[in-house]
Amino acid sequence: MPKSIRITRTGGPDVMRWEDVEVGAPGEGQARIRHTAVGVNLLDTYHRSGLYPLPLPTVLGSEAAGIVEAVGPGVTVVKLGDRVAYGGGPPGSYAERRLIPAQILVPIPEEVSDETAAAVMLKGMTSQYLIRRTYPVKAGETVLFHAAAGGVGLIACQWLKALGATVIGTVGSDAKAEIAKAHGCDHVIVSTREDLAKRVREITGGAGVPVVYDSVGKDTFLASIDCLKPRGLMVSFGNASGKVPPFDIGILAQKGSLYLTRPTLATYTASRADLEATAKDVFGVIREGKVKVEIRHTYPLAEAAQAHRDLEGRKTVGSIVMEP
Ligand SMILES: NC(=O)c1ccc[n+]([C@@H]2O[C@H](COP(=O)([O-])OP(=O)(O)OC[C@H]3O[C@@H](n4cnc5c(N)ncnc54)[C@H](OP(=O)(O)O)[C@@H]3O)[C@@H](O)[C@H]2O)c1
Repeated sequence: MPKSIRITRTGGPDVMRWEDVEVGAPGEGQARIRHTAVGVNLLDTYHRSGLYPLPLPTVLGSEAAGIVEAVGPGVTVVKLGDRVAYGGGPPGSYAERRLIPAQILVPIPEEVSDETAAAVMLKGMTSQYLIRRTYPVKAGETVLFHAAAGGVGLIACQWLKALGATVIGTVGSDAKAEIAKAHGCDHVIVSTREDLAKRVREITGGAGVPVVYDSVGKDTFLASIDCLKPRGLMVSFGNASGKVPPFDIGILAQKGSLYLTRPTLATYTASRADLEATAKDVFGVIREGKVKVEIRHTYPLAEAAQAHRDLEGRKTVGSIVMEP
């Protein structure tokens, strides 16, 4: 029987269990895939901790690459033997095998490895919608991207640089600052010891930035708003430090008619056409060498709990991939 990392209750990494889980034949619209590489995302820790509640028990994980082993009735987008990847959809990627709605699978281009695909499907498509669609960044603009050395951050900052932007990134340590500088950041702010808004004003000659991409959440939300130009856009897309508390929208008026959005990848890839276009854009920048995917952390799938400890402990850089 295939093994999976499953939880029956929410909590710390210790609630994750390496267990046999039955995987049957695919139903209408489903495919069964054998995973070859599994991505790790901070999102998985929100599911595990209960910050984003899921029906229990559940297998964790929202990103992976693998081979299609069987397809159910009505499936047209993939066929037996296809090398495919996905980011998002119903959790369950921390598994040797699983059933999945075929609609969320995309073929992996020949020149992209399974490990790379598993490292970029969720993180790369998130970067794509944030910098190309939520706020389409233009050459010459200066933008602020938090957690610049993280999984999403390393991809997004290289991509922003390739678009011709000046990138200000935040990181939690000096070691991560060097890595962020080597991956697209023109300026790096070490958030654990520098005043964010003051540094952004210094870097931009007092003007502020037109957009802030903030995945840190609770600890940085208000300071991020202070970095914006009048009519700038605050993109709050994650909760690494905790959920942003309820917020007085009057502050948006006081700080210069600001905009605020709380986007999700699910909305931006809800249609098959959007999903395919987003994945194509991600594989495109990898092919062209604009975004280099460095996988600095690999774990056996059975040791997913350690991957979570390291990710939540701010010990990782870039993408994490697990081997089933
Ligand atoms: N809305 C969406 O569609 C969407 C989709 C994908 C991901 N996300 C969000 O994007 C963010 C990045 O995801 P990821 O998987 O690539 O993770 P990641 O960036 O590799 O890891 C999170 C990083 O957040 C930073 N951080 C700052 N304060 C922290 C704290 N108190 N505790 C822990 N980490 C802290 C750490 O970097 P430093 O040590 O350098 O500060 C840490 O490495 C997450 O917040 C995730 O929820 C959102």
